[in-house]
Amino acid sequence: MSRAVAHPNIALIKYWGKRDEQLMLPATGSLSLTLDVFPTVTDVIVDDDAGTDTIVFDGMPAAASVAARITGFLDIVRKMAASTAHVRVDTRNTVPTGAGLASSASGFAALAAAAADAYGLDLDGRALSRLARRGSGSATRSVVSGMALWHAGVDDASSFAEPVVGPDLGMVVVIVDGAGKAVSSRVAMRLTRDTSPYFDAWVRSTSDDLDAMVAALAGDDMTAIGELVESNALRMHAAIAACRPPIRYLTPRSVAVFDAAAALRADGLAAYASADAGANVVVVCRDADVDVVRAGLAARLDLPADRLVAAHAGPGAHVVDRATVADGTRRACTTEEEAE
Ligand code: PMV
Repeated sequence: MSRAVAHPNIALIKYWGKRDEQLMLPATGSLSLTLDVFPTVTDVIVDDDAGTDTIVFDGMPAAASVAARITGFLDIVRKMAASTAHVRVDTRNTVPTGAGLASSASGFAALAAAAADAYGLDLDGRALSRLARRGSGSATRSVVSGMALWHAGVDDASSFAEPVVGPDLGMVVVIVDGAGKAVSSRVAMRLTRDTSPYFDAWVRSTSDDLDAMVAALAGDDMTAIGELVESNALRMHAAIAACRPPIRYLTPRSVAVFDAAAALRADGLAAYASADAGANVVVVCRDADVDVVRAGLAARLDLPADRLVAAHAGPGAHVVDRATVADGTRRACTTEEEAE
């Protein structure tokens, strides 16, 4: 049996839009921080006698659509390994699934690492990142520890994530809504590309934002980093909001978190909000400021304290031995209970 752990990442410069849906090549590069909270733990066991794959998701047989997506990914791994064997996959998420907190990133990064190991593939970091990309675009970056730059690339070989240098950043994850999002990012990305008049502007400005972010990180310029974080996220949501039929992920509670981050800035703290494809919001800051930002947000938001989760840079997807994971799973369950 092979077991792997991966953590979600939150993009500081977002990926939104594919230029090749089959190879999962993004319209632009993106940049993220892999977190140390909400791990996904995934087991993969090769069963030479099985006629199909068995997929268990959070202790239950996976829904047909989830199972089909995972089996499609496993077909890619089987092709790489020149194998026809089926597997049993047992995967546990601790981030609220489908709530715009990158459960697909940790999910497919963990699956890529565990499946590659189970099928005996010896992949380096770049190859594992490319494989994870085929499952979910954002998973490309969860293979990397800490800050990751995903190069858009022009083909399968050139579209991968690698570490990028910058100051130590952390964030406060504000869970305003643990329910699933109404429209999947896959569907919404397609609709944005096809119907939003702002999509081309989004692609152009994100390429510029990415270059500016790499420079701001290298120069340790927190104001530039934060302004890019917040405005790039809002530009993504603006492009999405212009879809027809319309899609809107941010709720009044999400907007309240953006307001709270602005209030912290007015008080002299470098805190900047961002949100993926869901209502939940993260507030990015220097790693050393995470606790004070969390306290400041708690004072300004009408939310239970356990909805504000302090997060720091975390490890990339990796295979672990069973003893380590038994412990990791216990910790993960505690985190999930706290987040409820
Ligand atoms: O998780 P995916 O691969 O379907 O894409 C999600 C994209 C965002 O989370 C909204 C942005 C990003 O760069 O992670």
